[in-house]
Amino acid sequence: MRSRSFNQREQSHIDALRRQVFALFSAEFQRLLAGMARASFNTTSSPFESVAEPEVDAGTEQTRRTLLLGALATTACLGCSTEARAGEDAPGSDERPQKGDVLVFSEGDQEGKPVTLAALAAGGPPVHAWPKDPKTSVVRSASRLNEILIIRLDPAELDDKTRERAVDGILAYSAICSHAGCPVTAWVKSDVGDKEVFKCMCHNSEYDPRAGAQVVFGPAPRRLAALPLALADGSLSVAGNFIGKVGGVQPG
Ligand code: FES
Repeated sequence: MRSRSFNQREQSHIDALRRQVFALFSAEFQRLLAGMARASFNTTSSPFESVAEPEVDAGTEQTRRTLLLGALATTACLGCSTEARAGEDAPGSDERPQKGDVLVFSEGDQEGKPVTLAALAAGGPPVHAWPKDPKTSVVRSASRLNEILIIRLDPAELDDKTRERAVDGILAYSAICSHAGCPVTAWVKSDVGDKEVFKCMCHNSEYDPRAGAQVVFGPAPRRLAALPLALADGSLSVAGNFIGKVGGVQPG
């Protein structure tokens, strides 16, 4: 059991590192993409305009590059999949969250510790968590589809349906993007509003947690799955199965 516990902690460290590398990877792609866009602009506005590619072709080329880079980013992300190491995982560690599971930090200084009301900053950012079976102490981290975003918001900001599900303004959602299954890693100001939203950096999909994590920007086809919560003695637990489908709909 000690060895499994160690392996889980070690694997969580590896997962956290992978997420950081992936975030850097995505940022580099964004910068590369911006550089390409500038290069295309310079080409179409050069003194040799008569021999430059027509603007529509530059746009087509840009789209092609965007798709290519997005696919590469997604492929890198899917390389983080835990499926390949399933043979090493404890029984139950790849099962979906179960009612009664406690929620523990999946990264950072408090990794492995229970997520408490006091640990959640009002208004965000979200924390990343795994469900953990309180009977066996197995953390369900063997499937990346089990990672959860937990956020605490002002209940007055939530729409009616979302407020009904929230406990003290706390909400939980799947951390897996519904587009192509990348992890949703960012909490940033929306491209289409003045509020902060969850953002997937693979293809820039944005989700508003105040409105059931509905898609507000980008190619994601549906909202993030929601996870019902319970709060007792200041600690959070799972109150039911995911509402909605978890995971992406296309390979990238
Ligand atoms: S995987 Fe494409 S936007 Fe998230």
